[in-house]
Amino acid sequence: MERENIKMESIAVLCSGGDAPGMNAALRAVVRTAIFNGMRIYGIHDGYRGLIDNDIEELKVSSVSDIMQRGGTVLGSARSERFRHEEGQQRAYEVLKEHDIDGLIVLGGDGSFKGALDLQEKGMQVIGIPCTIDNDLGYTTYTIGFLTAVETVLDAVGRLRDTSSSHGIGVIVEVMGRHCGDIALFAGLAGGAEAVIVPEVEFDLDELERKITNGEKRGKKHQIIIKAEGVQRTEEICRILEERTGIDFRTTILGHVQRGGAPSALDRILASRMGSLAVELLVQKKTGVAIATNGSELHYVSMEEAVNTPHKFNTEIYRVMRELSI
Ligand code: F6P
Repeated sequence: MERENIKMESIAVLCSGGDAPGMNAALRAVVRTAIFNGMRIYGIHDGYRGLIDNDIEELKVSSVSDIMQRGGTVLGSARSERFRHEEGQQRAYEVLKEHDIDGLIVLGGDGSFKGALDLQEKGMQVIGIPCTIDNDLGYTTYTIGFLTAVETVLDAVGRLRDTSSSHGIGVIVEVMGRHCGDIALFAGLAGGAEAVIVPEVEFDLDELERKITNGEKRGKKHQIIIKAEGVQRTEEICRILEERTGIDFRTTILGHVQRGGAPSALDRILASRMGSLAVELLVQKKTGVAIATNGSELHYVSMEEAVNTPHKFNTEIYRVMRELSI
């Protein structure tokens, strides 16, 4: 991790993969910490696509003013097919060298970090900052953007609960997260959902039916179920529940609305701290690492560990959520 004989005068930053609220706050921190430390800082547009195409500009203090509160990323992000191949990776490395760039900070999730590792193997000094709404990186407790996405889901759940109570219908809310149920889990607990359906736990239809009918007997008029994408088809679960309970169900797929919006205070703070630490580590010539948090302090692990640590499902939160939604 510690490399004495390298220079660290010019660095670059890119965003890759799905955008996440807080990416802009992290960019602002990276750019300003770099300038504070007397470095040149370059922004690469649209992730690895922009790197291959030499779509790069030097950033100044003013390039990142007024962006902290904005969702998305002002640099643009992408999932690059060309970068998956050796030829694209080699070209990307050459572009960095042509600009005399000594270190690269990558904002993204696991796919983006794998890309950073490919560049590291070619000789680039890299640092990863975890940005994804999915929270699916096992080496860190939180990723930038996750808690904002949970807030967005909660806002929708509150609205759906109003209409669910008024009409006595049930609602299945499908949320993002690909192979990770964290958005569903956290929004389920914070939103008082009847149940969450997540890829990490086998879904017990009998238990859910019991909960729904018990609730109805107690006079409950709303039924909120939060389901992670990719578990089973939402419409199918909706039909089965209608058949089993006799209650009308509707489905709402929140989709990309979860990716946008102003980052929460916690995400802005996390992003600012992680962006600052990423540059500090480059200044200290500690590279090949990804920044992490345990929920309060920051730390870092090797890029290999970041990429290879599987996400751990929070069984304690799941238990509490199940017990409270009897
Ligand atoms: O990884 C972030 C994420 O938003 C996932 O939750 C979702 O499955 C995926 O990206 C959607 O990606 P795209 O915008 O490329 O369809």
